[in-house]
Amino acid sequence: MTPFVIAVDGPAASGKGTVAARLGDLFGLPVLDTGLLYRAVGVLTERAGGDLDDAAAAAAVAAGLSAAQLGDPALRTRAAGELASRVAVHQQVRDALLAFQRDFAGQPGGAVLDGRDIGTVICPGAPAKLYVTATPEVRAERRWKQLSGQGEPVGYADVLADIRRRDERDGARDAAPMTQAPDAELLDTTEMTIEQAADAARRIVEAARARWQASEGTSGR
Ligand code: C5P
Repeated sequence: MTPFVIAVDGPAASGKGTVAARLGDLFGLPVLDTGLLYRAVGVLTERAGGDLDDAAAAAAVAAGLSAAQLGDPALRTRAAGELASRVAVHQQVRDALLAFQRDFAGQPGGAVLDGRDIGTVICPGAPAKLYVTATPEVRAERRWKQLSGQGEPVGYADVLADIRRRDERDGARDAAPMTQAPDAELLDTTEMTIEQAADAARRIVEAARARWQASEGTSGR
């Protein structure tokens, strides 16, 4: 049986992380927040005094990354998001992180991965794909609340500017630009509560799972 992979892509603070975590709980699958990989590469490259624009230097950090380094709270900061999107433009960095993501997706029962290029590049054959989005203003409000809750003092306008800059950089880059896969279901969470978004995602994935089970010739797991 092919692993049941759920690909959850979308821009920053769209709700994709929450949706991915809920789907993991509901379907009993492990979840990988792939943004953490890029955040770790950005933060560790900077800590080592490396040049973020130097693809080879950042790729060397990516190649040496271990899962144990992903729990660092410093990866959740506003600055780390910016560093991540700068190193994420390098194809060499993306190549160095590919095997880790594919191995995670290849676990026997399947997995949930959230990011920007899961449905397009990492797992193009995933049986369930969602593209989660919301307006920049709503996303900025959510991220601003989250950062304030973490004790990071920042104004809403600055968070909105961050979001717009990251959308632009992630969408315009040559290497695996952020985009909706043609076969991904669009989930616009602008007007939704967390519960509503999680419920809509569950319905999309249940339908995808039914199609996947039919194509696998199995009657359920
Ligand atoms: O999802 P998160 O906001 O943590 O991602 C941080 C940055 O990492 C993104 O803005 C993007 O540049 C990069 N990223 C990526 N591909 C992924 C996940 C994240 O390029 N699959």
